[in-house]
Amino acid sequence: MLIKPNAVKNGYAHEIFLMVHNHGFKILAQKKLQLSEREAQAFYRVHAGKPFFQGLVEFMTSGPIYAAVLEKDNAVTEWRTLMGATDPAKAAEGTVRKKYAESVQHNAVHGSDSDENALNEIFFFFSAREIVNAGGDIYQLHDILKND
Ligand code: CMP
Repeated sequence: MLIKPNAVKNGYAHEIFLMVHNHGFKILAQKKLQLSEREAQAFYRVHAGKPFFQGLVEFMTSGPIYAAVLEKDNAVTEWRTLMGATDPAKAAEGTVRKKYAESVQHNAVHGSDSDENALNEIFFFFSAREIVNAGGDIYQLHDILKND
């Protein structure tokens, strides 16, 4: 998951991590960093060519973000539920985006949309050595995907 520049700038990162913790996720790794233009383009490459792509890259490089690896049963689905809809106007009460997002683009947080993408996104930001308990779930996930 990522906490995006608007949420970090507004001082919401701590409260968002608290929500993550209170919903039973374990934080296996966490770092604060600022993406370069090339990195943001690479991270969001599936959206290249879409009308909002350039704005998305500019926004995601506009300040520091947090990247984190979350562990929970069905973590991808569970985190997507806690995040809420991409458009905060459609996000349910009690979700991160309902509370902290400003708009579709400035939507506070990011989550992977599948286990396979989660693995790619985790290794975009972290090496295996930086992920506590990596010998467990991360490698199991890797093995499952390899056998598909
Ligand atoms: P995220 O979950 O990080 O995945 C892709 C991002 O693109 C998304 O959140 C939004 O911030 C952004 N995005 C998606 N659709 C639009 C849109 N119609 N206009 C602007 N930004 C968008």
